Amino acid sequence: MKLLAAVAVLLGPLALATAVPQLEHRVSYDGYRVYRIATHHNAASVKAQLKGFATVPFNLDTDEHLDVAIPPGQISAFESLGLETEVMHEDLGADIAEEGSFAAYRGVEAQAVPSLTWFDSYHSYNDHVQYFNDLQAAFPQNSEIFTIGNSYQGRSIFGIHIWGSGGKGSKPAVYFHGTVHAREWITAKVVEYITYNLLTQYDNDTTVRAVRDSYDFYILPVVNPDGFVYTQTNDRLWRKNRQPRSGSSCVGTDNNRNWPYMWNVSGGASTNPCAETYKGQAAGDTPENQALVAFSQKLRNQGNGIRLYIDWHSYGQYILLPYGYNCQARAANHARQTTLASAVAARIAQPYGTRFTYGPSCSTLYATTGSSVDYMTDVANATYAWTIELRPTGSGGGGFVLPPAQILPSAVEQWEGMKYLLATM
Ligand code: ARG
Ligand code: ZN
Repeated sequence: MKLLAAVAVLLGPLALATAVPQLEHRVSYDGYRVYRIATHHNAASVKAQLKGFATVPFNLDTDEHLDVAIPPGQISAFESLGLETEVMHEDLGADIAEEGSFAAYRGVEAQAVPSLTWFDSYHSYNDHVQYFNDLQAAFPQNSEIFTIGNSYQGRSIFGIHIWGSGGKGSKPAVYFHGTVHAREWITAKVVEYITYNLLTQYDNDTTVRAVRDSYDFYILPVVNPDGFVYTQTNDRLWRKNRQPRSGSSCVGTDNNRNWPYMWNVSGGASTNPCAETYKGQAAGDTPENQALVAFSQKLRNQGNGIRLYIDWHSYGQYILLPYGYNCQARAANHARQTTLASAVAARIAQPYGTRFTYGPSCSTLYATTGSSVDYMTDVANATYAWTIELRPTGSGGGGFVLPPAQILPSAVEQWEGMKYLLATM
């Protein structure tokens, strides 16, 4: 009862009402087959062959490949094109159904640590709120829940602040954002596992104790709550926020193209409100971005600055360094960042051999303007600002829809990387 009341206060009545699944509006991907098509740097000719197919883009295009979902009725025609492909999902709808059976989260007795079964399945937004409240309540002396503002639809953008022996707010910030892109469900789980370990291992692990005593942690698992809820009620592949725009029937702005830095540069975002990378009408004009900018400025100005910022995404298995807006630009400490990223990738590989590629964002993946890492680097003065793209690579199966059995391994390998990074940087 007490827990429910706390959730209601955090979410507000509107959020509780809209969180009820609207099954009749749900987009079906039953029978859709997802392919990665090799383009050999000639995406235009592949796209020309795809005219006439009702393709659903399955991720943003890179220089090397297009990931697309093909409806069941067009699979044989698509296969007769003879393109060079790999199958990412045999039946996307079936994989979404498997992923979508959430275990119930029942909360915990007062001040008990929630169990690791949390990482056996995905969960609703309301459960994520409650999970963070429960984790925090078990460590009341060294953590607190904060909210930085509300989403377009009025949901709380919340996080946990964790500190060590120096006391609250006495050290440089380590700052994480999860779920800026709604469909990247694995990101909330991974930052929650890192949070869980920072809280529970302080007394058992000297490395954790040392990093907790060296930094103040600010961890926000779901910075795009409206989009996240929409992926669970309506469309599993939704990416953006849920803000309408005058003059367009299309909804949603990409919050990772809306940051007020290099927003005007062309080529790394779209001006079309219907596009997946729509940048907004003006720099910083989404409610979510405004809350995140204000909070980032607060961290920047509070005396000890931001040592590390990570924007958690999926998929692709990349550690992406600045910058997104220009493929030649490098951070002033680029050599140091590269050394650290290489060592972090080696640590991530230790538990299960998972390989992460690292390098500057624009030249390694694609150009992005108005992205968080560019803002954090040049405006919020973060020493290190990275994007981590989690499992899978996309080659050889899967994408945003990562089987629940891979939640814990994904989290374990990132925790290895983070322990090294936090202790070394
Ligand atoms: N997949 C992410 C996106 O499209 C990658 C962004 C990386 N950009 C950057 N500047 N680090 O938003
Ligand atoms: Zn993303």
